[in-house]
Amino acid sequence: MVDVILGLQWGDEGKGKIVDYFAPRYDLIARFQGGPNAGHTLYVDGKKIVLHQIPSGIFHEKTANLIGNGVVLDPVILKKECDSVAAFGVDYRKNIYISQRTHLILPTHRALDKASEMLKGAEKIGSTLKGIAPAYMDKTGRNGLRVGDLLDKSFTTQYIRLRLKHQKLLDNLNFHEDLSEWEEEFFEALDFIRQFKIVNGEYFINERLAKGKTVLAEGAQGSMLDVDFGTFPYVTSSNTISAGVCTGLGVAPQQIRDVIGVSKAYCTRVGGGPFPTELEDATGEQLRKIGNEFGATTGRPRRCGWMDGVALRFACMINGVTKLVITKADVLDAFEELKICTAYKINGEMSTEIPFQMNRLKIEPVLQSFEGWKTDITATKKYDNLPLKMRDYVQFINQYLGVRTAYISNGPGKDQLIEN
Ligand code: GDP
Ligand code: IMO
Ligand code: MG
Repeated sequence: MVDVILGLQWGDEGKGKIVDYFAPRYDLIARFQGGPNAGHTLYVDGKKIVLHQIPSGIFHEKTANLIGNGVVLDPVILKKECDSVAAFGVDYRKNIYISQRTHLILPTHRALDKASEMLKGAEKIGSTLKGIAPAYMDKTGRNGLRVGDLLDKSFTTQYIRLRLKHQKLLDNLNFHEDLSEWEEEFFEALDFIRQFKIVNGEYFINERLAKGKTVLAEGAQGSMLDVDFGTFPYVTSSNTISAGVCTGLGVAPQQIRDVIGVSKAYCTRVGGGPFPTELEDATGEQLRKIGNEFGATTGRPRRCGWMDGVALRFACMINGVTKLVITKADVLDAFEELKICTAYKINGEMSTEIPFQMNRLKIEPVLQSFEGWKTDITATKKYDNLPLKMRDYVQFINQYLGVRTAYISNGPGKDQLIEN
């Protein structure tokens, strides 16, 4: 069976920490979508590490890690990441497998990402500029190069052909940066990738499942950044929701057991796009400061606001969430008053649904107020020992969403997770 851990908001919910915590219970951890736009923070022996493409099970010797076919992979970034996990004494060659169907991010994809954002001007997406959209465009446009192609002698010819096509696009977009250094790094990294265990991911995973092995699929980004159901066009280019597990790994829907949805106790977003509960005031600043809300991949300050129940309920619906994990609950320790958005007011009308074009509407969040618990919860180990006001807050979320909170994270450390 396959369990899934994924984000229910706009990313950075703390998925990495949760996957790292649960990894020892599984035989295989698999990334099924996204690429180096992800930044998953883990603490290993008290030291911080941010993973972008390597699944968050890498620090557990007995757990295998698969980069699935649904991922878009930047070889240069993978090489750097491998160096950083090796510094922790991890033998990454032993435990990382890459699907032969995984698409490659080329230097020109990164350039195209940059050129496309420049063209959008004030309406830019706020992309991480890692080449994600152009790489997925080449996948659906049937031009992309895959990890399995690296083992074929026609690779360089195929590369040159695609590069030429990209160059024409870049010329049209008036983008003239010199890419020779990026290309040099890229070719070095390809040699590095060729030495990995490149597998037929779908057989690799299904053979394991048939033998009763357990798989944990690790989501990147968040449900509101899903290319179909997120706040389009301010989204990423993959299906971040549970359905993406089937196409991104080659597993059947019946194999999926638990869908564990991760949400912060409040809400953040990095990059452009609608964010109905955003706080552009001192309270938002306080959330950013206490929550240390700066991007793990780009270092950009994250926009902060109250928990958006409407968006969360939508995310629970499209993912089929069976268990909820609330992270960063400790960040709210100091607040006198907390709020949760329970409806949207649009043109004077109340709604509890996510509208079609959120970015073109003026959405006023309808906020329910809660008294803050004003207690330091970072050392609490048991749910029953949490302040009553906090348990009331959690109870309200459970009822509003119709999903039970199974865990509460009360700090970045691996031991700071309370089972309910
Ligand atoms: P991911 O992309 O979903 O894995 O999340 P990120 O790593 O981008 O961002 C989450 C940030 O919050 C990281 O800096 C984590 O170390 C931190 N974090 C995770 N859980 C908690 C928590 O419960 N409390 C606090 N204070 N920080 C947390
Ligand atoms: P993790 O896995 C937060 C956002 C970008 C931008 C939009 C499109 O760490 O939660 P892209 O680079 O995909 O073209 O950017 O999506 N974004 C993320 N925001 N966490 C992420 O990943 C993100 N990955 C992409 O900021 O708004
Ligand atoms: Mg992140």
